Amino acid sequence: MKENLEKVQEHYDHVAEVYDSRYGGDVGERYHGHIREQVMCCLPKGGDLLDIGCGTGLFMKYYLANGGGRAVGLDLSPAMVQEGRSRNRLEHLITGTADYLPFRDNSFDAVSSILAFSYVQDPAKVLDEVYRVLRPGGRVAICTLGHNLFTAALPAVYKIGEKVHWGRVGVGDFDEHYYSDEEICALFTAAGFSKVETHHCSFAHVNLSKPLFNAARRFEPFVERRVPYLAFNLCASGKKEE
Ligand SMILES: C[S@@+](CC[C@H](N)C(=O)[O-])C[C@H]1O[C@@H](n2cnc3c(N)ncnc32)[C@H](O)[C@@H]1O
Repeated sequence: MKENLEKVQEHYDHVAEVYDSRYGGDVGERYHGHIREQVMCCLPKGGDLLDIGCGTGLFMKYYLANGGGRAVGLDLSPAMVQEGRSRNRLEHLITGTADYLPFRDNSFDAVSSILAFSYVQDPAKVLDEVYRVLRPGGRVAICTLGHNLFTAALPAVYKIGEKVHWGRVGVGDFDEHYYSDEEICALFTAAGFSKVETHHCSFAHVNLSKPLFNAARRFEPFVERRVPYLAFNLCASGKKEE
């Protein structure tokens, strides 16, 4: 059996060329755009950002366009990084793994990670690294699939998807981990972060057909506020004290 990290990398190398079109269409843009906003609102604008598991740099582009600053991205997949450089014209993209951040202590004002944290094998190590590279007063915001009614079924669906070679972005048996609020808060706190908060987002999922997505989107604000357990993604944020 291949190492999981290698398997994740191979998958994203394979889908890199079509990745942006998944999030560039009407449904994809609205899904990813909603997540981007949820993460952005937890971070200081216009500073030095590190985006972990940056993929093709969609969040970096958004961060730079909404307040300026500087953005550096790190991703496991060389092909995703290459797409980010050529298609999205981002310069500061490097290949690497989340649990070893090749940066000096106190280098960034903000650290983000979108739809990548479920893949990491040692989340405590990743958060220790995030804490180290953040400047005092800096903030981290991570958005990842949360553990809920729907994501509980995902491992089985993904196993089937892999067997039938359903080559869609993110579909595969990668032994992903879906976090509860309590679990992710405990990880952030253990790494040293204060002001740890979580909120849930995304009831309308990119994998839905357009009519279903539009219907789910209408209920999204209600779900996020009143029945957050039904939302797919969990956003967690924290601060490194001054
Ligand atoms: C679903 S994509 C999200 C990409 C981007 N954050 C976005 O929102 O479009 C997941 C990304 O996480 C990267 N990834 C997965 N595990 C990683 C790890 N341990 N270290 C760094 N990147 C990782 C994958 O290569 C892939 O590009």
